[in-house]
This record gives sequence, structure tokens and C-alpha cells, in this order.
Amino acid sequence: MKRIRSPKKFQSLCLSLRRGGKRIGFVPTMGFLHEGHLSLFRKARRENDVVIGSIFVNPTQFGPREDFDRYPRNLKRDCALLAKEKVDWLFTPNRDDLYPEGYQTFVEPGALARGLCGRSRPGHFRGVATVVMKLLNLSLPSRIYLGQKDYQQALVIRRLVEDFHVPAEVKICPIVRASDGLALSSRNSYLSPEERRRALCFFKSLGTAKEWIGNGERNPRRVRAGIRKILVPGLSRVDYIEILDARDLSRIKRISGRIVIALAGFVGKVRLIDNCVLNVPG
Ligand code: PAF
Repeated sequence: MKRIRSPKKFQSLCLSLRRGGKRIGFVPTMGFLHEGHLSLFRKARRENDVVIGSIFVNPTQFGPREDFDRYPRNLKRDCALLAKEKVDWLFTPNRDDLYPEGYQTFVEPGALARGLCGRSRPGHFRGVATVVMKLLNLSLPSRIYLGQKDYQQALVIRRLVEDFHVPAEVKICPIVRASDGLALSSRNSYLSPEERRRALCFFKSLGTAKEWIGNGERNPRRVRAGIRKILVPGLSRVDYIEILDARDLSRIKRISGRIVIALAGFVGKVRLIDNCVLNVPG
């Protein structure tokens, strides 16, 4: 695997690959990779001629009181993992490469970005959409691979690709969980063993909600109240519990069709999210 830092050189490389008829599979990340990320790279490897990843902890998607400075980083370990997955190129720009002095253009996503994490993290999706637009313009992929764990992010990016006529296919890939059910996330590394145990309430509540719905419950208010009862003892603070239309994150009065149960909350100071998407018969 080769590493490249300069946006200009990276774009020239991708241009020449595309001109040579190669299909590029692209996986954007912020590094500190885990099996969830690696599953995206493996899928990209199976479906494309060239696999490219990026590692960039994007400052514009973090709020002023969020964890940008302490976000976990380990580039050496990440490179070793990606080399094993036979990734061809890794783009690792620094802050000034993507946001040089005088930088002033941002992408503003719409309604999809307003609820859920968009409400708790103002400006977050503006930062995500901006950096992803840059990365798409540089990597010129045939396909971009995203994890379902960040479900709202994946929908915002899919919309961005559609709205800006980006000629790439967006692939949203399943959540990867630890054997006890905790959704893998780079932020899990912040958790103490005790907090990690408490964080299992996300998975437990999703499983229980699925059972209720499977047994015929169709009232979103009752399901949300039941989830809250499971989350409250484990979490220091519940951020949101939502049951929404999975296609556009709009509110629903009755649970039916393709829905997403989306959760966010704090275990100690660590903010975690989880979700599940269900196809519920009318
Ligand atoms: O999900 C992430 O790691 C980031 O939000 C992304 C998509 C790489 C943009 O910085």
C-alpha cells in the first residue's frame, strides 16, 4: 500500500486510474480502524479494481466542546491493517492540505441533517458533507463505502451524491458488532471496562424493541418508552430515542414499512450511537 498526502497528487493519481478504465472503491475514515472499517475495505476490494482509503480527522465536523483533540489516532497501526487488506492507496492529508488559510466554502445539507445527531451536534453534518465532497472530488470513486452505524451520516452523504450529481454509487454496509453486541466504534476506546458493560444497553434495547415489534407492537411512543426504561439505568444521559421512516428520517405515527430505530446517549462522558433498520409488515 502506498500513502499519499498531497491533494493535487492524489487527484492526478485517481484521474489517471479512471482514464485507464479502473473502477475505484473509496472508503473515507478518520482512522483508528476497527473491524467495522475493515469490512468496508474488504467489500471495496471484492467490488473494484483499485481500493483507496482516506484517514483524516476532520476538524470541521467537531463542535468546540467535542473530542477533536483527543480523538484516537494511530496511523502506523492503521497502515499495517490496511496493507494486510491489500488496500492500494491511502490518502492522509493534514489540516492545511484540505483547509488552507483563506478557506471559506462549505456544503450545507438539508432536512436529513436537522434531527438526531444534527440537533445535538450543530454544524456536524455541514463539516461531514464538506469534507466528503472534497474527498469525492479528489478520489473520483465509482463506489463509496459507508457504515450503517452512522445511519444519518450515510443518508446525508447519499443525498449529497445525488444532489451534486456525483457519478458514484453509495454503498451502505451493515453494522459490525463485538461478540457481546456492542457496535464497533473508534470512540469505544474511551470507555472503561465498567462503562463498556453499561454501553451494552444500546444493543439490548434494540433487540428487545425488535421483539416487541415482531410480536405486533406498532405504536412508536410505546416502543420508545420501553427502550428508555432499558437505556436509563446504563446511560448517564439519553440523547435521543427515535423511530423514524428509514428512507428520509421523517416522523411516523405507526410502525410499518422500512423504519430505523436510532439511539444516542452518553456513558460517562462518551457519546455513543446505535441503530437498527427493520422492514415491518403493515
Ligand atoms: O464516519 C467518519 O469516519 C467521518 O464522518 C467521515 C465520513 C470520514 C468524514 O470525515
